[in-house]
Amino acid sequence: MLKLDRIVKLLPAQIAEKYAEQIELFAELDSTNEYLLNSAKTTTVATGVCIAETQTAGRGRNNKKWQSPPGSNLYFSQLIQVPQKNTLNGVTLVSGIILCQILREMTELPCLVKWPNDLYIANKKIAGILTEVAVDPKGQRFLVIGIGVNIALPQSILAELPSATDLASHGLIEFDRELLVAKLISNIDQSISSVLQDGWLSYHQLWQQYDLLLDQSIFVKTANQSYQGIAKGVTPEGYLQVEMNGEIKQFSAAEVSISTL
Ligand code: BTN
Repeated sequence: MLKLDRIVKLLPAQIAEKYAEQIELFAELDSTNEYLLNSAKTTTVATGVCIAETQTAGRGRNNKKWQSPPGSNLYFSQLIQVPQKNTLNGVTLVSGIILCQILREMTELPCLVKWPNDLYIANKKIAGILTEVAVDPKGQRFLVIGIGVNIALPQSILAELPSATDLASHGLIEFDRELLVAKLISNIDQSISSVLQDGWLSYHQLWQQYDLLLDQSIFVKTANQSYQGIAKGVTPEGYLQVEMNGEIKQFSAAEVSISTL
């Protein structure tokens, strides 16, 4: 089980002051995102963190289930109050960049982001992010950033999910989850504050360094159509750009896969 006092010790002083009383650890929950979305409706604080050792109803994007066995993975959600006036496109992409930077730094593995915010190592998914929004009765808006990292999945689950991987498969048997949590809390807090204040343009320039799809042939599936083309990065709004028949088409939401995988 993760140790709360060590997580707090690893936080920079200013972040510890803001979050120390707001971090909750559970042996089991339905979903850490669900927990924070519900608590947002009654909370009087602007931030919060929830971590569970296992989830009975872990969820991914597009109504998919997120496998959440107990053991040593990470199921983590962070709640941040966001003014109604801010658009949230940049926030979603920035959380992917932040997680990618942290995983690269801690593992030295070549982690990349698949738009909008799936994390890949050697073309297999290592982590996923689900961002959801709650509005409390006073009309205040909260963002919940939910992160699942596959640190050591049971072999039976890896066999069921051929497109997934975990850190253990890349030789990381000892992995400091408390340090990962401390870095996430701190870096997410700082980057989201900076995006809310100044927009995400400085991160837009960073995107290329982490972009798994850049110049790859991809399939793009929207609610009512499928496309194939070459990925050409993201627009300043965070939309995916895809070249098709010599023209660039933009997507604000879609499911994407690499056509050669
Ligand atoms: C995806 O890739 O589809 C997103 C997966 C997000 C999973 C995390 S685990 C912690 C948090 N709680 C949930 O129920 N989902 C997110």
